[in-house]
Amino acid sequence: MPLFRCPSRECVLNSKMSMVLFASVLRVGDGLPLSASTDYEQDKGLQETKKHVKALSKKLGQFPDRCALKTGQYNINFTSSLGLGYLMVCTENYPNVLAFCFLDELQREFIITYDNKRVNSAVRPYSFIEFDNFLQKTKQRYNSPRSLSTKINLANMQTELKLRPTYQLSPEDLGSINNFSYRTASKYKGIAPSQQLEPVCLPGVVSCVLSILCGGLNLLRGVHAIESVMQNDDHEDFNYVIAFFLGTAACLYQCYLFAYFSVWRNSKSFLAFALICLSNMYLYELRNVWQILFHVTVGAFTTLQIRLRQPQGKAPDYNV
Ligand SMILES: *[C@@H]1O[C@H](CO)[C@@H](O)[C@H](O)[C@H]1NC(C)=O
Repeated sequence: MPLFRCPSRECVLNSKMSMVLFASVLRVGDGLPLSASTDYEQDKGLQETKKHVKALSKKLGQFPDRCALKTGQYNINFTSSLGLGYLMVCTENYPNVLAFCFLDELQREFIITYDNKRVNSAVRPYSFIEFDNFLQKTKQRYNSPRSLSTKINLANMQTELKLRPTYQLSPEDLGSINNFSYRTASKYKGIAPSQQLEPVCLPGVVSCVLSILCGGLNLLRGVHAIESVMQNDDHEDFNYVIAFFLGTAACLYQCYLFAYFSVWRNSKSFLAFALICLSNMYLYELRNVWQILFHVTVGAFTTLQIRLRQPQGKAPDYNV
């Protein structure tokens, strides 16, 4: 078994192996990632490097079409053409010419597989998920050079590299990017772009606390209702249990909606509010008017606060 076949983290760290660790394809215009290799390495240095990758992705259009950046023990290599960027992270001792071939191969395959229209119409990150496979396979091939059949081109590539050397990005080029990278790191972790909500305000916090209180009250009464079901075996009591618990769920769900961004957030909060109203209507006999008024008012107040706390701008991820 050749040494370089071992992709585990220990190997990367322990031996001075040369390997490709990560690859991705992105749209140069806005830095939207289209496809990426899966990687399992949790190495800290690599995570740092990927922050640079994300930050650089967004500025790709401002750099020459072939550029590179050295970060710690890893290299980041980019090429871009026809509005698409191809990027890889490899160990610092990975052969230059192979890195170049690797990117070239990605580029050729991507161009023949997808047309411009498809690229331009992509809205969500990583929507070319079928290409991940190719990235992964190519990465593996380039990590076991014995199985590599591109040797014939190496001479050509070497010449090409000599004639038109890669532009080395310097820390100055990164300047503004650097701070930026830490702020936007982890934005692309999920499949969907995560959006940040506006900062919380005092009324919002109050509404959330009141909601939790209402949820707690519902829960308490629900538990009591369970006890009386056990004692009386009464069907109506059982319905009360459900109504109380639904009320609890709706209150807590509203808190969640207030705290985090999700799609259809406003509609969901209305539904939760409707559920609060319904459960209180059903529980009419068990509560006095003031209690019901309190629950419904808190529900309405929280719904309003959810509505008022909007995402910060639209998709802050890729407005370059
Ligand atoms: C890849 O990145 C390294 C580090 O910046 C650089 O020295 C090398 O020339 C790059 N290779 C290619 C093919 O661009």
